[in-house]
Amino acid sequence: MILNNDIERILVSEAEIEETVKRISAEIDRDYANSTKKLLLLCILKGSVVFMGDLMKHITIPVEIDFMKVSSYGASTKTSGSVNIILDLLRKDLPDTDILIIEDIIDSGRTLSYLVNYLTLKGAHSVRTCTLLDKPERREVEFTPDYCGFTIPDEFVVGYGLDYAEQYRALPYVGILKPNVYTK
Ligand code: IMP
Ligand code: MG
Repeated sequence: MILNNDIERILVSEAEIEETVKRISAEIDRDYANSTKKLLLLCILKGSVVFMGDLMKHITIPVEIDFMKVSSYGASTKTSGSVNIILDLLRKDLPDTDILIIEDIIDSGRTLSYLVNYLTLKGAHSVRTCTLLDKPERREVEFTPDYCGFTIPDEFVVGYGLDYAEQYRALPYVGILKPNVYTK
């Protein structure tokens, strides 16, 4: 496998991701098998798009998909925990819907705690969360995902959907950037 020149080291390999995607999709199949509501996989753009695509291929129960786009207000200076909704979820069937939010990474916890609250208030039958990566050391608000791929240390990572300045999203693994990339 050819390592991108800007990557210091691989934190989660393609094979590890594949195995974990299969594990989580089997958990989702099992947990929602008896639900009478429709299951909506809600992808948070853009970072979760690769994870979502892989996950949905392995889930065997019927699902619908949708998308939201949000941006955090500069985290640590804000205490409100609010996020900016750039693309909203406009559906009238939320009372008949189990929403499973698909996220790339949990950092401060602000994005997901806001979204769970927002979608619950909008009237969804249930709202759960699924993240590929979790950096619990960075938490500013308490938040525990329902499904989690990997707990990782406090490092800035890219690949498999995650970006630095909109680059590196297409890498098939999750890697740590070389420090000189930030200081170029
Ligand atoms: P938070 O949990 O609200 O702080 O925000 C999580 C979001 O921050 C993620 O959806 C990513 O967009 C971004 N993010 C946090 N840590 C990283 C990282 O290590 N690499 C790339 N994006 C990150
Ligand atoms: Mg994101």
